[in-house]
Amino acid sequence: MKVLVVGKGGREHAIAWKVAQSPLVKEVYIAPGNAGTEKVGKNVPIGATDIENLVKFAKEGRIDLTIVGPEDPLARGIVDAFQREGLKIFGPDKRGAMLEASKVFAKNFMQKYGVPTARYGTFENPDEAKEFVKTLGERVVVKADGLAAGKGAFVCQSQEEALKVVDDLMVKGILGEAGKRVVVEEFLEGEEASYMVMADGTDYIPLPTSQDHKRLLEGDRGPNTGGMGAYSPTPVIDKETEERIRKEVIEPTLKGLAEEGIHYRGFLYAGLMLTKEGPKVLEFNVRLGDPEAQPILTRVESDLVEHLMEILEGNIRGVELKVSPKWALGVVLASKGYPQKPETGKVIYGLEEVERLPDVVVFHAGTKREGDKIVTAGGRVLTVVGLGNALREAKERAYDAVEKIHFEGMQYRRDIGDKAFKYLGG
Ligand code: AMP
Ligand code: GLY
Repeated sequence: MKVLVVGKGGREHAIAWKVAQSPLVKEVYIAPGNAGTEKVGKNVPIGATDIENLVKFAKEGRIDLTIVGPEDPLARGIVDAFQREGLKIFGPDKRGAMLEASKVFAKNFMQKYGVPTARYGTFENPDEAKEFVKTLGERVVVKADGLAAGKGAFVCQSQEEALKVVDDLMVKGILGEAGKRVVVEEFLEGEEASYMVMADGTDYIPLPTSQDHKRLLEGDRGPNTGGMGAYSPTPVIDKETEERIRKEVIEPTLKGLAEEGIHYRGFLYAGLMLTKEGPKVLEFNVRLGDPEAQPILTRVESDLVEHLMEILEGNIRGVELKVSPKWALGVVLASKGYPQKPETGKVIYGLEEVERLPDVVVFHAGTKREGDKIVTAGGRVLTVVGLGNALREAKERAYDAVEKIHFEGMQYRRDIGDKAFKYLGG
């Protein structure tokens, strides 16, 4: 088989790395890829949202399966376009992608189908949004409706701050169209976790649990980012909680989508707050999480391609993934200035030495090759994953490898996974 992976981040490198291990696969292409994906397949210089040329490439190159990494092409209808040409592609269609592309749609959907989430209002008028802010407690969350690359949710510490965010989004328009409509919601207290499945309509295959670290700085301080590190599995989701997530979140969501006439075929990601009352959805993503995909996929032992093909053939009832009992922990190495204004073009040192280490896998994101050097080319540069028989061991392996890598302005969190230790009793 020939497989095309769309995207250029750490998640896409992890998908391509996993796909390349499948005995079914002869060639892997990544569009546009990065300096890391070059090592597991062939990079194709077509941007992830250049749908017309991706279709052309897949048709002419006789690609048997396309896997979409990021949300943007999904929201723009890449799946619809491929299907029109009879090309096999894994991901939800444009309507399914609304679950991530519009927070207003997602919240109204959850309300309609009884999926637990924070109490909220949706607004197109700033004065009404402000009135609603005043009915909530001191801590209020304001979210831009549209896609904003992880920068559209504002967790406000006071009513004043929330009122200002409403103005920034709706009057000043700091996020453009994405912020013209907003969701205002109550602040939820609890532990955050990520739960992902591979869905085919109302059937699904669960992926291993994980926990992301969204804030830039240690101790969950600083601005929100796309994610600074993640580990899998997470003890925050015990067996009973997982059962609740499946029954209260995943199943009603897939059922609701089907009732809306959407055949959801793709990864589905629930970003959850585990509150005293149970799991509540903070957001849906219609793709794998990044960086969660990196530790998750290093643990998956089954053939991913085989399962994706089963899904596309409508044949997954009863299928379960084989997953390694090992722990995996991924640390994101980011550029100076990330997430606001990352510096790029810095030479990365130490990669070759680290690639030889056992139980360590380095996934590239913002990297590119320049002659015989690899240089930084984005905000999040690498995810360094360590594997171990205990979380502590996985953490040590990851950070020992991180110590060997260097580029100017490199920043990372040293506390990835620490939140888990209190659940593990040590
Ligand atoms: P979102 O883009 O909706 O996932 O929000 C980004 C981040 O903001 C989440 O990962 C949480 O850390 C935080 N967040 C979002 N909504 C809430 C909420 N209702 N209560 C507390 N924290 C939230
Ligand atoms: N790591 C969170 C996300 O991919 O949205």
